[in-house]
Amino acid sequence: MKKKGFIIAMDGPAGVGKSTIGQWVAKSLGYYFVNTGEMYRALTWKALEKKLDVSDEKKVVKLAHQIHWEFRPSSDGVTLKTFVDDVPVSAHIRDERVGAFSSQVASYPGVRKFFCKLQRILGKDGGVVMEGRDITTHVFPNADFKIYLDASVEERAKRRYHQLKAAGQDANWGKIKEAILKRDLGDLKRKINPLSFAKDAVLIDSTHMSRRAVAQKILKMVRHRRAKL
Ligand code: DC
Repeated sequence: MKKKGFIIAMDGPAGVGKSTIGQWVAKSLGYYFVNTGEMYRALTWKALEKKLDVSDEKKVVKLAHQIHWEFRPSSDGVTLKTFVDDVPVSAHIRDERVGAFSSQVASYPGVRKFFCKLQRILGKDGGVVMEGRDITTHVFPNADFKIYLDASVEERAKRRYHQLKAAGQDANWGKIKEAILKRDLGDLKRKINPLSFAKDAVLIDSTHMSRRAVAQKILKMVRHRRAKL
């Protein structure tokens, strides 16, 4: 499963478009795409499935070690999808309940240590776009490209609102904004590996940019460097 190439690390707050942009970039370059939030969500989902007390740190860390983790390429060969004990979890982990508990699970040092190790194994050969909250600062501080993607909370809430509406779901902009702010706070205030801007990362503020334009900007940087090799 080896593809040689750069390690492209991307961090940023919730709802900023890291996944969509990361997938486009990975696809254009023939790289793998890894969404590390999926791992924290998958562990949370499994804990809830097993009716484990999610506030019991020791039990959650133990569960992370007990699970058989696999990351298999999606049908288009781009995204590495998370499998928990042979179950493809992508469809189960997007609901609000899993999202809300996953911030707590992501605050446990033993859980972060466990996933950091897995993420380093997945990305070590390069040819990967990996996104999350601590990829540029902790998982791959020496990545070939370090990108911090940002957008105003109003813009992120607006995008999420339109996403939900387009999917025919109920949406309230104010409530969405509140939920995003709460998640931002959790990610920023976490004691271990909080979301932060690595000094040598490239900051892209996408408040007034389309996701296509952001992906093009990243691809331009990568191709420019590749041409010089
Ligand atoms: O990106 P997401 O919303 O799917 O992430 C789910 C949770 O995991 C969220 O609370 C942030 C956390 N997370 C993290 O702490 N570190 C990462 N590298 C990725 C996600």
